[in-house]
Amino acid sequence: EQINKGKYEHYMQKEIHEQPESLTTTMRGRLIRGGSSKRKSVLLGGLKDHLKTIRRSRRIVFIGCGTSYNAALAARPLLEELSGIPVMMEIASDLLDRQAPIYRDDTIIFVSQSGETADTLNALEYALENGALCVGITNTVGSAIARNTHCGVHINAGSEIGVASTKAYTSQIVVMAMVSLAIGADTISSKPRREAIIESLLNLPEMKDLAQSLISEQSLLMFGRGYNYATALEGALKVKEVALMHSEGILAGEMKHGPLALVDENLPIVVIATRDQSFSKQQSVIQQLKARKGRLIVMCTEGDAAAVCGGSGRVIEVPLVVDCLQPVVNIVPLQLLSYHLTVLRGYNVDQPRNLAKSVTTE
Ligand code: G6P
Repeated sequence: EQINKGKYEHYMQKEIHEQPESLTTTMRGRLIRGGSSKRKSVLLGGLKDHLKTIRRSRRIVFIGCGTSYNAALAARPLLEELSGIPVMMEIASDLLDRQAPIYRDDTIIFVSQSGETADTLNALEYALENGALCVGITNTVGSAIARNTHCGVHINAGSEIGVASTKAYTSQIVVMAMVSLAIGADTISSKPRREAIIESLLNLPEMKDLAQSLISEQSLLMFGRGYNYATALEGALKVKEVALMHSEGILAGEMKHGPLALVDENLPIVVIATRDQSFSKQQSVIQQLKARKGRLIVMCTEGDAAAVCGGSGRVIEVPLVVDCLQPVVNIVPLQLLSYHLTVLRGYNVDQPRNLAKSVTTE
């Protein structure tokens, strides 16, 4: 069945704007608020019988490719915080190239929009052979990854047609936040934090207006850290894959170990400096980039523009949400930025040259 573009010119544009709805669908029936006890909790049917085993794991390992890997990276800090278990990141092909050790008491979470990516599937086969508990997070019911993992969660983002993943990314982060909440649900000390996150999840789809407020810029470097390191990587990936422009996501803590040499008055740099525990460090990064006359585009929390960049440079303001969900909001202007850049540069938005929606060969 042909899914049409409605009032939009491209699927990517449609899918970016659909995110308030796709996030609602992702969360439907899974977040419980209120009741007589006023308890807030998460219900993930596909995981509930395995939570005890997951809590006893020695490590949790995320495996994915492309945007799915970036979504897992965005969710990692919260999973570590709420589970107290070390969380490792693996790009599927790299894990296989290294034949990296996997243990019986590992939980491996496979993240894949299509559920059919060859490298991720091969890594699943390898993890099964090594006796690990395998969890699938996919957008495709009945896909190979959904079928062959021991348990899992569907992200229910609806079909994604544009080759560059957008709404699946935000739904994947939200699902992994819910998985983190479910794994951490037996820890009494983190209850207030978990409840604050659930409340914030329920309010997320209100970011609607944000999608309209984009300023197009030709961006190359993107600096992020903490929760938003993944946002820098994913923003740069979008610019690369659809706008066919070189772009690099950089961990801001590594700035002085190389990237600073590139900074001059010509190279545009996006700095993600929304409010969280990394904020003061990002302020200092901005000062250092300004001292070298860097051409900055600063993403900051609404109302922070003057404080963060003192009136100079371009600013993208975004609404404040709880720290661990800020990547869901922050990626939207960067998705729109890559979309508009692509249209302006005259490239194919929905089918970038040389790329495929699902990579089913190595
Ligand atoms: C391809 C797509 C990307 C996607 C990646 C992983 O490269 O173009 O958008 O992120 O595969 O795909 P998956 O279906 O496993 O999430």
